[in-house]
Amino acid sequence: MRFSTYLLAAGLSATAFAAPVAVDTSYDECEADPVPSSSAVAVSTAAALSTSIVPTTAAAAVATPSASSSAAAVAAPSTSSSAAAAASPSVVSSAAAVASPSTSSSAAVVAVTSSSAAAVATSATSSAAAAATSSSSSSGVTVSGGTNGTMYWLGVSESGAEFGQTVLPGTLGTDYTWPNTTAIQTLIDLGMNVFRIPILMERISPTSITGALDTTYLADLKTVVNYVTAAGSSAVIDMHNYGRYNGVTMSSTSDFQTFWNNVATEFATNDLVIFDCNNEYHDMPTNTIVAELNQACIDGIRAAGATSQYIFVEGTSYTGAWTWTTSGNSEYMGNITDPENKVIYEMHQYLDSDGSGTSGTCVSSTIGAERLAAATTWLRENNKIGVLGEFAGGANTVCETAVTGMLDFVKANSDVWMGALWWAAGPWWGTSYFSSMEPSTGEGFVAYKDILAKYAPTAA
Ligand SMILES: *[C@@H]1O[C@H](CO)[C@@H](O)[C@H](O)[C@H]1NC(C)=O
Ligand SMILES: *[C@@H]1O[C@H](CO)[C@@H](O)[C@H](O)[C@H]1NC(C)=O
Ligand SMILES: *[C@@H]1O[C@H](CO)[C@@H](O)[C@H](O)[C@H]1NC(C)=O
Repeated sequence: MRFSTYLLAAGLSATAFAAPVAVDTSYDECEADPVPSSSAVAVSTAAALSTSIVPTTAAAAVATPSASSSAAAVAAPSTSSSAAAAASPSVVSSAAAVASPSTSSSAAVVAVTSSSAAAVATSATSSAAAAATSSSSSSGVTVSGGTNGTMYWLGVSESGAEFGQTVLPGTLGTDYTWPNTTAIQTLIDLGMNVFRIPILMERISPTSITGALDTTYLADLKTVVNYVTAAGSSAVIDMHNYGRYNGVTMSSTSDFQTFWNNVATEFATNDLVIFDCNNEYHDMPTNTIVAELNQACIDGIRAAGATSQYIFVEGTSYTGAWTWTTSGNSEYMGNITDPENKVIYEMHQYLDSDGSGTSGTCVSSTIGAERLAAATTWLRENNKIGVLGEFAGGANTVCETAVTGMLDFVKANSDVWMGALWWAAGPWWGTSYFSSMEPSTGEGFVAYKDILAKYAPTAA
């Protein structure tokens, strides 16, 4: 998701608002995945409009910044979810975690095979299906998606802690916030079982990439992560950095490896954590560095003893599915290796004309499936597994049909697609941001909650 004009509708505070727009102007120069030429206009208009927007939503959110991460909420994670009782992160075995992010679900047929640990592979309900869909490749990656017709993960990004990207480290409650666990529970009750939590590298590791982690930011992150995983869902820790640290494109793979080693050490015993190396690389000096940084991420995580978790790797050009085979990703991302064979290729796909997700207008009612087609072929031909890490559409018939078609396509091709995550929930979007999945008044939530629920892994 690119930051630009959509923020006008988001009702953000001035500081939170200014930051992503600044990011937009410096980051959005990608040729393969173009952004409309309106960035500069958006910036100037933004300044004018933000003042009138602030009082209505942002101020209220700022006034109660820590309500979303209260200890009380964590203490009672499963009050309204029967499935939740099943999982406590410290006691779930690898096999159980893999087989049942939602205990009673058809998603359990999804199998993961590993050359080094075949025992992990057996999903309880369908060894035949597992055998049919397991695969191996020349690069040694043998993760397999589900049998055709199953959705293993359905969820949403829980946005907030990455807000205010140019105000570093920024102030909690003013520049950024944490997801609301009560709202997360509402989405769990809807059938969602994966929550991606965007954070900033500069906040969790403020002194340098390789420095000590910030104890407060880390503790707040753990509050959200533990809430999600205690409920039996998966929590994706997403470094929402676009391949940059303090605005400079990362180039040291060893530093990045140390960074991820530090972070993964904190979550090594939680099998329902997923590590998302970096969000939406773009305009990097080379495409090889993107693959190399992802490899360093994997190596750092595994060296930390975090060996059971999935790792999401994203490509360049904002990791767009529609440009996967033309952006360089198909040439450079395929050789990534993981001793645990649990790498998932995270691609993003929006349905507006430039694929940026900044507009709630979709190109056509069939654009969703169309934009996934080439990447799906690449995944299958290369024995890779993907996840649709961001998608959205506006509250209109064309988009709703296109989103439905895209999710049908993901489900039908679940031998290579593990699932899909909407962008985005989070307490600071306000009600009028077209894709706000924040319960219960977000425009996206109102328009799409019933549509998405049909694709929940627990849905009949
Ligand atoms: C899943 O469906 C796709 C296309 O519909 C097909 O090419 C593929 O072989 C199927 N996979 C399995 C395991 O049946
Ligand atoms: C969290 O979500 C709940 C339910 O959706 C809502 O009542 C509450 O006001 C939210 N808290 C904050 C701080 O936004
Ligand atoms: C793997 O690397 C080789 C050599 O650099 C390259 O030719 C090939 O295209 C890569 N394969 C994939 C799937 O990325």
